[in-house]
Amino acid sequence: ATGLFTYDPGFTSTASCESSITYIDGDKGELLYRGYPIEEIAEHSDFMEVCYLLLFGNLPTGEEKTKFVHDVTHHTMVHEQINMFFRGFRRDAHPMAVMCGVVGALSAFYQDSLDINDPHQRLIASYRLIAKMPTIAAMAYKYSVGQPFMYPRNDLSYAENFLYMTFAVPCEEYKPNPVLARALDRIFMLHADHEQNASTSTVRLAGSSGANPFACIAAGIASLWGPAHGGANEAVLKMLGEIGTKERIPEFLERAKDKNDPFRLMGFGHRVYKNYDPRAAVIRQTCYEVLEELGVKDEPLLALAMELEKIALEDKYFVDRKLYPNVDFYSGIILRAMGFPVSMFTALFALARTVGWIAQWAEMIEDPEQKIGRPRQLYVGEPRRAYVPLDKRG
Ligand code: SDX
Repeated sequence: ATGLFTYDPGFTSTASCESSITYIDGDKGELLYRGYPIEEIAEHSDFMEVCYLLLFGNLPTGEEKTKFVHDVTHHTMVHEQINMFFRGFRRDAHPMAVMCGVVGALSAFYQDSLDINDPHQRLIASYRLIAKMPTIAAMAYKYSVGQPFMYPRNDLSYAENFLYMTFAVPCEEYKPNPVLARALDRIFMLHADHEQNASTSTVRLAGSSGANPFACIAAGIASLWGPAHGGANEAVLKMLGEIGTKERIPEFLERAKDKNDPFRLMGFGHRVYKNYDPRAAVIRQTCYEVLEELGVKDEPLLALAMELEKIALEDKYFVDRKLYPNVDFYSGIILRAMGFPVSMFTALFALARTVGWIAQWAEMIEDPEQKIGRPRQLYVGEPRRAYVPLDKRG
């Protein structure tokens, strides 16, 4: 460039928005949902209660919770024509590609959720999305393995229903394992919201123009898919498979430090946390519980992941840069042990994060001061110059 323009953007804060939903202190490794610490939420709450908390700002009373769960449960079916929509995908399509397409298509089915200025319609759209994401994710899995879609069951909890729609087949009885369902519910809680991460910011920016909420959530799914973001849980499993044995860990740690090598230690590091991601500690504990329940507590992948974490956190490069395991480091080991294919891991992240995207979208839409998003730039291109006719160019 022929010189950098000096440019005063005219604003002091780098904050993109005000929000009262989730608070993160990256140095302390603290995460609060509407003021409640994630560790207490994970221990005492459940995903439906967390959805209510994120959407409405307070923990529900017994009556409020019963009504909320009833309303979400009774929106879990998708329009019957959605089934045909799946026929257009290749069987081996990535579930995130399918989720992106199908969730975006919901805007073509639910015309009565289009008036985003109507609070009631916004609420219906929110319930529909929270309720239908497990159904769509399970359908994506069923379609990929050539099994029939399973209709949701209203007698099961949110997590049990997802396990049922994913792993049950019409020809035999399927009872969701309560320990696995509880673990999955906890994983959903831990992934529910995370302040202004890339996919949430995508949903806010798309929604700031007044776009249809289903289309905005589809945009969030697209952003989450990336391996630097929600796609990291899938990338961690692939990385552990590539490392293979404890003996090869030092070789890969050296590669992770080499700026000329694209290899990164997946599941490590974070834009905000410069301390241990509080979610990672809960997920690691959940990992032990699930592997114990499944009788595979000596799962080699867990031993390899723990050894990798131990050696990395003794390495100056990672310690100096405060690179700790994040939410994605252990989650994939649990999901794989539960029977989910690696390709479904990010779809489960999207399923859980949908409530956070909706809560953040609604907070933005309901802000009377809200304007269309318009990120600024610092121009570093060519200064003004005259046009050169074709016959005068070198
Ligand atoms: C999620 O934002 C959110 O809240 C996201 C999320 C959510 O809930 O929504 O928490 C979910 O996306 C978790 C992150 C999942 N991604 C990964 O695990 C992918 C691997 N991680 C890296 O790609 C990376 O750590 C990022 C993308 C997460 C953060 O990248 P940054 O912002 O570049 O990290 P940084 O500024 O803290 O990096 C500082 C240094 C750099 O080196 P130097 O230039 O100082 O020499 O650390 C290096 C980075 O190159 N570094 C890594 C590394 N992560 C950062 N080096 C090797 N391996 C890594 N994983």
